[in-house]
Amino acid sequence: MTDMPLPLPDYYDDLNACLDHIETVLADGVTNRKAPAHHPVVASLTHDGAPTQRVMILREIDWQAQRMRFHTDRRSAKVGQVDSRQEMSVLIYDEAAKLQLRFEGTGRTDIASNADEAWTRSTAFARRCYMAEAAPGSASASPTSGLPSWIEGKQPDEAQLTDARDNFAVLYFAFDRIDWLYLANAGHRRAQFIFDPVAQGWSGQWVVP
Ligand SMILES: Cc1cc2nc3c(=O)[nH]c(=O)nc-3n(C[C@H](O)[C@H](O)[C@H](O)COP(=O)(O)O)c2cc1C
Repeated sequence: MTDMPLPLPDYYDDLNACLDHIETVLADGVTNRKAPAHHPVVASLTHDGAPTQRVMILREIDWQAQRMRFHTDRRSAKVGQVDSRQEMSVLIYDEAAKLQLRFEGTGRTDIASNADEAWTRSTAFARRCYMAEAAPGSASASPTSGLPSWIEGKQPDEAQLTDARDNFAVLYFAFDRIDWLYLANAGHRRAQFIFDPVAQGWSGQWVVP
């Protein structure tokens, strides 16, 4: 018995449909905790210019502004890295959709006013991470969560979270290049998109996978 070929998606041979699909994948990543785009790999450059990566939760996508929002600890290594070298890249691999998406652009961190709204909209459990007493990556003589022992396994109240706000930062990633790769037995497809700030739109082109 031979395998039936899977039906090809409408974006298989259509650049505009690819872009629409990318927008949908990102939007789904924000709202659907099971979606691969919910936890992309986020790359930055160390002070020495070496690439470094980590998984982060995608909190918001502003497709019109070509911008993703992430939350992090302002004491973490990535904040210092992005503040000194803005180049960043974000990778999403969706196995079910047979899709790899790579975004390139620049990062910016915010600890002030815009971060306030993101802070208050986060759950108490999510905000508990920022109660860690020492910076992420600090050496510890024993295994540790970093949290004060009295809050381990508990949900903090607003008063207990007050000091943790100082450790919270928003990381914005503005992208202007997208590399799209779709895997298919019928033949892979790959396209690259660049945002034209004058025309205020994406222009895409097929490339060899
Ligand atoms: C599923 C998952 C989700 C994560 N989400 C975040 C996140 O939203 N923000 C964050 O700062 N770190 C997140 N982390 C931890 C980072 O991957 C990383 O270990 C940490 O931020 C330290 O990174 P840095 O030393 O490069 O700053 C997550 C890790 C995993 C496995």
